[in-house]
Amino acid sequence: MKMGTSSSLLPVASALLILMCFTTGNAAAASASGLKLNYYAKSCPRAEQIIKEQVRSHYDEHGNTAVSWLRALFHDCTVRSCDASLLLESNAATGLVSEQSSTRSFGMRNFKYIDAIKSALETACPATVSCADLLALAARDGVAMLGGPADIPMRTGRRDATVSYYGEVERYLPVHNDTVSAVLSRFAPMGVDAEGVVALLGAHSVGRVHCFNLVARLYPAVDGAIEPAYGAYLRERCPTADAVEDTRDVAYARNDRGTPMVIDNMYHKNLLKGRGLLLVDQRLATDPRTAPFVKKMAADNAYFHDRFAAALVKMSENGPLTGDKGEVRKDCKFVNS
Ligand code: HEM
Ligand SMILES: *[C@@H]1O[C@H](CO)[C@@H](O)[C@H](O)[C@H]1NC(C)=O
Repeated sequence: MKMGTSSSLLPVASALLILMCFTTGNAAAASASGLKLNYYAKSCPRAEQIIKEQVRSHYDEHGNTAVSWLRALFHDCTVRSCDASLLLESNAATGLVSEQSSTRSFGMRNFKYIDAIKSALETACPATVSCADLLALAARDGVAMLGGPADIPMRTGRRDATVSYYGEVERYLPVHNDTVSAVLSRFAPMGVDAEGVVALLGAHSVGRVHCFNLVARLYPAVDGAIEPAYGAYLRERCPTADAVEDTRDVAYARNDRGTPMVIDNMYHKNLLKGRGLLLVDQRLATDPRTAPFVKKMAADNAYFHDRFAAALVKMSENGPLTGDKGEVRKDCKFVNS
């Protein structure tokens, strides 16, 4: 269509306006990460429903599966990108070493149920839904089942890595005794600021920590930042100083003994009372960059949920593979041959 010069400004201006609406106002538009809401609407319309049904039935049988998807998403996304590299198993033939065998992954569980979810997807839509999206959506649904924020708008379109980043896991993932500075600098590249970190670590209001990650705070003396009664509970759970890196050693403790299967601000309330389980958890309550947010979230569960949802979305969109990068794995444990 040709237009005269005098009338050409109006359509250009309105096209710009429409473009601006799409990039800023419309949540369905592709985000900066290249992901979008309901990416599988045409290619696999029931994908999100299938994942939700699967997550629900596993949750009904083992509530801790929902806890696992949340931790798994954190590990997958923080190490380079949300690309399901975490899900690749070690393979002697190819020399691939799984990220799951890193010390940072200690205690991770329930990976076998990922296979069940993936099978249900493959039955409905072969080779269509990526393992990276499966994990992001499973974490989203698990969070809702655990009483966290419901219906977090999780964009999709991630593709799967063909490599493991085993050698880089420790460079990206924080450790239980990191300083607040170290933690903030690991989250910052994902666009998660101090407030977002305080919200995201609220994930530790569910699940468990093995004694392996705790004994340094308990022996030879109990860390002075720990409330005495809580210290006594932890020593009862972890009676010796020599906890080994072995999940068959089942000794573990909970951060939140009140509501251990609910994503709520009990985590932040506990921090204010000296009941932080990991050293990093407890440090959030005293560092001037994070302490104000701990107090605010402890006082207001809705505010915590709101910030948690926003930070989870940010984390879940860390550098995804899109377009023709990576692949859609048929089996989440192995690269396609
Ligand atoms: C400074 C950052 C973090 C550190 C150092 C950290 C470290 C840990 C450690 C050491 C455990 C216990 C592992 C074990 O002994 O079994 C754990 C558990 C857990 N973490 Fe984190 N974490 C961090 C941030 C996060 C984030 C951002 C999330 C999710 C948004 C998360 C979700 C979880 C969950 C759900 C569990 C419980 C897992 C279970 O019971 O199976 N963590 N984390
Ligand atoms: C942190 O904990 C690890 C064991 O998980 C230990 O080897 C290391 O020395 C600790 N670092 C500090 C600074 O305490």
